[in-house]
Amino acid sequence: MDKKFKRTLVTAALPYANGGVHIGHLAGVYVPSDIYVRYLRLKGEPVLFICGSDEHGVPVTMRARKEGCTPQDVVDRYHHLIKKSFEDFGISFDAFGRTSSETHHRVASEFFRHLYDKGVFLEKESEQYYDEEAKTFLADRYIMGECPHCHAEGAYGDQCEKCGSALSPTELINPHSTVSGSKPVMKKTKHWYLPLDQDQPWLEQWILNEHKEWRPNVYGQCKSWLDTGLQPRAVSRDLDWGIPVPVEGAEGKVLYVWFDAPIGYISNTIDIRPDDWQLWWKDDSTRLVHFIGKDNIVFHCIVFPSMLKGEGSYILPDNVPANEFLNLEDKKISTSRNWAVWLHEYNEEFPGKQDVLRYVLTANAPETKDNNFTWKDFQARNNNELVAVYGNFVNRALQLTKKYYQGVVPACGELTDYDQKTIAEFVDVKNRVEHLLDTFHFRDAQKEAMDLARIGNKYLAESEPWAVIKTDPERVKTIINLSLQLVANLSIAFEPFLPFSSRQLRGMIGLNECVWADLGRTDILEAGKQLGEPVLLFEKIEDAVVEAQVQKLKDTEKANEMEAYRAEPIAPTIAFDDFTKLDIRVGRVVHCEKVPKKTKLLKFDIDDGLGGRTIISGIAQYYQPEQLIGKQICFIANLAPRKFGDLVSEGMILSAENADGSLSVVTIDREVKPGCAVK
Ligand code: 2FM
Ligand code: ZN
Repeated sequence: MDKKFKRTLVTAALPYANGGVHIGHLAGVYVPSDIYVRYLRLKGEPVLFICGSDEHGVPVTMRARKEGCTPQDVVDRYHHLIKKSFEDFGISFDAFGRTSSETHHRVASEFFRHLYDKGVFLEKESEQYYDEEAKTFLADRYIMGECPHCHAEGAYGDQCEKCGSALSPTELINPHSTVSGSKPVMKKTKHWYLPLDQDQPWLEQWILNEHKEWRPNVYGQCKSWLDTGLQPRAVSRDLDWGIPVPVEGAEGKVLYVWFDAPIGYISNTIDIRPDDWQLWWKDDSTRLVHFIGKDNIVFHCIVFPSMLKGEGSYILPDNVPANEFLNLEDKKISTSRNWAVWLHEYNEEFPGKQDVLRYVLTANAPETKDNNFTWKDFQARNNNELVAVYGNFVNRALQLTKKYYQGVVPACGELTDYDQKTIAEFVDVKNRVEHLLDTFHFRDAQKEAMDLARIGNKYLAESEPWAVIKTDPERVKTIINLSLQLVANLSIAFEPFLPFSSRQLRGMIGLNECVWADLGRTDILEAGKQLGEPVLLFEKIEDAVVEAQVQKLKDTEKANEMEAYRAEPIAPTIAFDDFTKLDIRVGRVVHCEKVPKKTKLLKFDIDDGLGGRTIISGIAQYYQPEQLIGKQICFIANLAPRKFGDLVSEGMILSAENADGSLSVVTIDREVKPGCAVK
């Protein structure tokens, strides 16, 4: 750590509590920040790691409206789900608070009021869309209409999802409110603005001249904002969910979610350090580091610093290591399209394999550009790196110790030139890993740790203890001792990256404490020490397992297509007379059986009130025949007979097609006489 700093305050972006956490979140923010914090803790440096859920804003209210519950219900549910996912993956926050907490409401409110009293804000009236039926101003997302660019229906007031254009609500053609369906009108409203234009000079000096070391993607985005020229930004909204604007005459207005969310870092610190939180936030000897995704750069590098500086007593971030995005199987991760690997699902499907995901996400971290997660690569990195390199070396070293020395560490004898050469290759790993972690190069740092295992494998392969034991057993003691020292080094080097397996490994070699300073030493394990029973650290992942995951994504894709298909009319408009050509009736299933050799077909004997008939239906994948016997179903009675092999179907049973393509038979809500017409 730079000499001028005595402690580090690390924040990780507060995830919105309107959904779960997926691999994109983990790769972009939470795994790198956790690696960094674990590393600092291992070095014995004072550090606090702050996160929590972001519980205000339109995404939450939209979700609540969609689900027919209150915003509080939504955030309660997701706060707990998110918190548990992070715990399961070993993300070692010191605080995981909530922006709906009392402390946060108070702190954010006081922060706003302080800026207000200092006269920092601009107060401006503007015209915004208002829903006269629902008596509410409309957030951009609550207004829909035709896209002025691609003319798709259903574009939102801030974006058209069809063509990707960023929009403002006034650009929409034929806008309507999604709250009441009515046509919105323009109405005057007052808001408070942060005068970012006035901050431009010091922001330029601070970022462009004093922080040239920031990642190129972060520096570049800031430069582009500054080059365009900053504009005042509204920090209040007309909304009924959030922190009320603490000013007279501001009824019905709340703080903009991007104003209150970063203050969440402060209030969540206050919750766990009520007595010395100011040391962490206001003392120049604290180093503040924000871990975020690239879509958050402007808020953390420009807006929040402007708020902190405006308040006057806070420090500014020293670094903002933002990552780019992670794609999934070549497509953008999307919560609404369910194109994601959710952590809570991964945990159920891959129990005990959190480190595998942590490893793969770091190996593929989108540090400099967007990157891609594929299940094939996940499997390959597990099988070819974790199992074949790291796990294999550890297992061989421990098994040989067990076989030759009953699991007791042998004494190291005289070192050969080859031993010296091997030692020279790995003693410097501490400096290299430290340099990489200090400069936020997590991928390369993890690669250094893996290279230690590669050195170990090469050493064992070339020094061949299994052959030498027959001719020079004394020499083998040195080979095994050195190999075990490497194993101990691995358990330390991997600790920030793979905490679960590192701990398991330390258990096997009896290292109670993980001391970072020991990294690079060749005397960590004393001769004579009894080691524990070796267990495999990682296991191979078979093709079928990843194929099932790929299939799951394909099913999602199909469901999305179905969703899009349902949103469009399926067939052109018809006249009522055309509809009356269909003779739809209710029948009772008298008998139902599978059709031999046809996996999809069921054969029905139907009491149709007309003397009975046979119908063949392709729903065998979704029902056992006995589930349907006795049910009243709807069928088309005047469809021309159709042949299915030797069988003839006299009509068609009606079913509803689900999003995943599965079928549910249409039944009757109250018992009727077989043969009744359906109209
Ligand atoms: O982009 C997001 O998911 C935001 N909820 C991040 C907020 S970070 C901070 F400012 F709280
Ligand atoms: Zn469009």
